Amino acid sequence: MNRRHFNLLSLGLLASTLPIAIAACQTDDSTTTAAQDIAPNGSSRDDGFAALGTVDQLDATGSLSSNSFQGQTVAVIRSPDNPDTLITVDALCPHQGCTVAWEDDQGLFACPCHGSQFDADGDVTAGPASQALGQFEAKIEENVVLVRVS
Ligand code: FES
Repeated sequence: MNRRHFNLLSLGLLASTLPIAIAACQTDDSTTTAAQDIAPNGSSRDDGFAALGTVDQLDATGSLSSNSFQGQTVAVIRSPDNPDTLITVDALCPHQGCTVAWEDDQGLFACPCHGSQFDADGDVTAGPASQALGQFEAKIEENVVLVRVS
């Protein structure tokens, strides 16, 4: 093989593998776009709903929550009585304002500060809190959990 044939062979090899190498280095644009579409705290739509997360994220942990969702602290769960229905609570404990968390294995919202507990609907089951958790509206559209806080 002379030098000219070697150069042509090298050029052909480079031309055939370069697109594969470039493709391997690119990010998955569809994933990036989907993540941006469901970014928490994004601006709300005309109907007031904004994306909090995906149904997959909700089902993986039993709840979705945010301490800064459009100025609110929210937690979303599936209703234990009807999993097709979402329950969305104001996750600030009415006692002194700590953030409650959904305890999926116990089926309740628990406050870490002084032990108040709330059922899935946000009603008090154990004090010292004496008021129920506030509620917001939520729904699912195309695998996205949407919440309206205003
Ligand atoms: S702040 Fe929740 S029980 Fe006190």
